[in-house]
Amino acid sequence: MSELVAIAVVTSLSSARKAFSLYPAVHPEHSGALDSLVAAVATATGAGPCTLNLHLGRLYHESQVLANDAPGMRSMADAFESHRIESMTFNPGFTRTDATTLLEVLALKPSADLDVGLALEDRGVFGVVVQRLVEPDAAEAEEREEQRGRDRAMYLRLVTALRRINTQLGPAGSPSLGDTAVVVENLMARFMEDSAAVLGLATMRDASEADLFHCVNTLIYALTIGVGLEIPEEGLTALGVCALLHDIGKVAFNRDDPGQEERVRLQHPRVGAEILARMPEVDQAAMLVAFEHHFRPDGTGWPEMEPNYIAHPYSRIVSIADRYDRLTTSAPEAGGLTPDRAIVQLLREATADLDRTFARVFVREMGAFPVGCMVRLSDQSVGVVSAPGEDPLQPHVRLVYGPDGLTLATKTGTDLAGSELSIIEVVHPDDLRETVSDHL
Ligand SMILES: [Fe+2]
Ligand SMILES: [Fe+2]
Repeated sequence: MSELVAIAVVTSLSSARKAFSLYPAVHPEHSGALDSLVAAVATATGAGPCTLNLHLGRLYHESQVLANDAPGMRSMADAFESHRIESMTFNPGFTRTDATTLLEVLALKPSADLDVGLALEDRGVFGVVVQRLVEPDAAEAEEREEQRGRDRAMYLRLVTALRRINTQLGPAGSPSLGDTAVVVENLMARFMEDSAAVLGLATMRDASEADLFHCVNTLIYALTIGVGLEIPEEGLTALGVCALLHDIGKVAFNRDDPGQEERVRLQHPRVGAEILARMPEVDQAAMLVAFEHHFRPDGTGWPEMEPNYIAHPYSRIVSIADRYDRLTTSAPEAGGLTPDRAIVQLLREATADLDRTFARVFVREMGAFPVGCMVRLSDQSVGVVSAPGEDPLQPHVRLVYGPDGLTLATKTGTDLAGSELSIIEVVHPDDLRETVSDHL
């Protein structure tokens, strides 16, 4: 098909738009313009669909740029631009009704909500198909949003798995792991692909099911240490399941009774180990982790053990992961720390040699400003650390407030490496009434 045939489509479309806006439907100019458009499209689609594209303000037929000075060319390029149309494909069999509807839709006021392609589909037009122009940033943001949705769904599958196991632990139930290990494996695979995204998930909280969310977060932090220690994949899955089930003993207590709190705290390790002993498919390590995750060799933990008792390495890993989540979960008035302070606190608490080694691995993996840290930058803007940087002091930050203190309409990320900006302080999200996980 020659360039001239495509130009004829553009010219007749432009004339028909003009006639459509100037004359009533009964006017001969109006119907004549419609006939010309249908005829031009019929010629252009004789051998198959004909597509017009907009690229950098110019109209193209396939990859052939169309002469800019042809009649109607500029006005149609403008119309494509203002309606955010990337391409318009005319199909053989394009009818007068299709033409009328196309002109009606093109006469609508351009807006972010108007998608010409969808508007045509909604009106039952298939003789012409329009593809919306997607901004590169928008496409990237959309893809990120989709991946975020998938990641969150995976996290919530673990919450659901744990909720199901807890329910099955009732008097009549027979608890089973089901596909829990598979979901842990999937999470681990995603961690290998993008550890920052998975660490971002660990900022999720739900006050009504705090115990369940705590267990999934503990699993994520335990995996972080496991990966830092280069534990092989199979071991990581086992560690993940152990971490997920570490507080299972709490299910045996009435969590709504504040009077029971101390009993829960002291007894859930033993009760948890007993519960897991009744689940044959659960690795013996999980029992040990449930039993030992609050044990401290310096005598400050529980349950009490004989001197020189050495806890399983997984128990010590889970104990660090558990502690970090606890330290960062509470509100400031309840002693909750910002992630950077929690990291320092962990180092202070890690006394025994093995604990110290694992704590240091965790600190190395998390960085000075861990994912989820809310920070104020030197230009007074505020954001959330979304990924570590090469330099521990220059992580990647997703901005939430601009330098003027106003919420940003579009959340943009900034890499502190190579930027003039630096972190001047860490802020507690509660002080800004912000929920960190909304921004990760
Ligand atoms: Fe615990
Ligand atoms: Fe815990």
